[in-house]
Amino acid sequence: MYSKIKAAVVGSINMDIILSMDKVPEVGENVLGTTYGYAFGGKGANQATALAKLGADTKMIGKVADDENGNKLIENLKSNGIDTSGISVTGSQTGLAAIILDGEGRNRIVVYEGANAEIDPKEAAEYITDGLDLLLVQFETAEEVVIECVNRAISKGIATVIDCGPAKAFNLEKMQGATIISPNESETKALTGISPDDDASILEAAKILMERSKAEFVVLKLGSRGCAVWNGKDLRIMPTYPGKVVDTTAAGDCFTAAMALEYIASGDIYKACDTGNKAGTIAVGRMGAAASMPNINELLSF
Ligand code: RIB
Repeated sequence: MYSKIKAAVVGSINMDIILSMDKVPEVGENVLGTTYGYAFGGKGANQATALAKLGADTKMIGKVADDENGNKLIENLKSNGIDTSGISVTGSQTGLAAIILDGEGRNRIVVYEGANAEIDPKEAAEYITDGLDLLLVQFETAEEVVIECVNRAISKGIATVIDCGPAKAFNLEKMQGATIISPNESETKALTGISPDDDASILEAAKILMERSKAEFVVLKLGSRGCAVWNGKDLRIMPTYPGKVVDTTAAGDCFTAAMALEYIASGDIYKACDTGNKAGTIAVGRMGAAASMPNINELLSF
């Protein structure tokens, strides 16, 4: 279904340490955890894993160190069929994310960027070559890396999807004309100053994002409310599906990757967002980041 799509992801590769607890501690408080474990993560690597598991021919572009975590992360990407030749193994320390999960599956994440912050913009952009159908980027690498790669992809006519995580101010004006720009609620607030709480604020934020980025579509990820699509004329809120919540980590990564693939395949943004909602619902029902991404059969049978 998506196997003819050639995709590249420029982004972060992290080892995640996930610690679960019933209630997260207040400042100065000690609480007991219930479980902990390591998981393969990083917004870029998670999105690459989702693309590959859904069948796309996927290349990952990023940086890790030649350390235990870096080597394990590369092996895991390879085991998912991802082309890792765009990953440079020269960083000072592989990225690490400390994730605390409360009893409702909600996360709080602290990222040590390490090698992710050392990606060279020009080197990364060299991998954005003719023949690619899709470029996916996030904001977990330096701003210059994102801008350089997005502009190169746009100049080559490659469909470009910008996932705006994690939340930060970003110079969207320096990359004009992507296909889809997609922040979640906190990222929308960071980029527009508006919390997308109701239809009016969603529309106001979407208009600002489109004006600033000149993207073709704005897709706001609204967590348990689903997503909102703005095409410059109509706003459509698309509710997501009910399902159990185990770990919300990387649900947005999963949504973005699945939405992007379906958009390339069908050219239908609403079908694409529905696919993203389905994939995201599967991901929140499972523990972990990259490991929670569904494969194509799971998505089709959802
Ligand atoms: O989007 C989820 C990801 O954010 C985690 O895997 C963690 O590595 C952080 O980058």
